[in-house]
Amino acid sequence: MSIRPLVIIPDNRLRLISDPVTRVDARVRAIVEDMFETMYDAPGVGLAAIQVGIPERIITIDVGSRDSEGDGDEEEKKRPVALINPEIIGVSEEMSVYQEGCLSIPDYYADVERPKRVRVRFLDLNGETQEVEADGLFATCVQHEVDHLDGVLFIDHISKLKRDRVMKKFTKLAKEKERDGA
Ligand code: NI
Repeated sequence: MSIRPLVIIPDNRLRLISDPVTRVDARVRAIVEDMFETMYDAPGVGLAAIQVGIPERIITIDVGSRDSEGDGDEEEKKRPVALINPEIIGVSEEMSVYQEGCLSIPDYYADVERPKRVRVRFLDLNGETQEVEADGLFATCVQHEVDHLDGVLFIDHISKLKRDRVMKKFTKLAKEKERDGA
């Protein structure tokens, strides 16, 4: 297992449409392990493979420690879920608003409105088809990560004015980093 470097905006790879996984094998399970390690280290509640530079339809989520009450040790609160080739097959009419962030847009948060519940179909780590009904933070997270697989970022759901401001800031930071040779 290893922690992989995160892809940060304005890196164009974040705009790629990721390819479906054709076979859930040891290679895919190794990617998932690295994704969980990278996500917990960050720390974050969700990660799409493209955020570590892999354009394949794989996402990892763990909203366990955020959703539950704050007692018990960290390990007990972990609820890791890996979704391969996830597809949102149903959405509620009811909407909810969460303040979202993204490991590819460090330290930036904004309110995003999305359907409150979604039904998602995916392959598990054994390659079996599963369907779950996601609600609350988990539903928001699934939608945020599935967006990544289609090259969509949460800042695409906020006003153009705010998005332009964020992109400008990170473009400047990337240039400074390049200039400093970091
Ligand atoms: Ni994200």
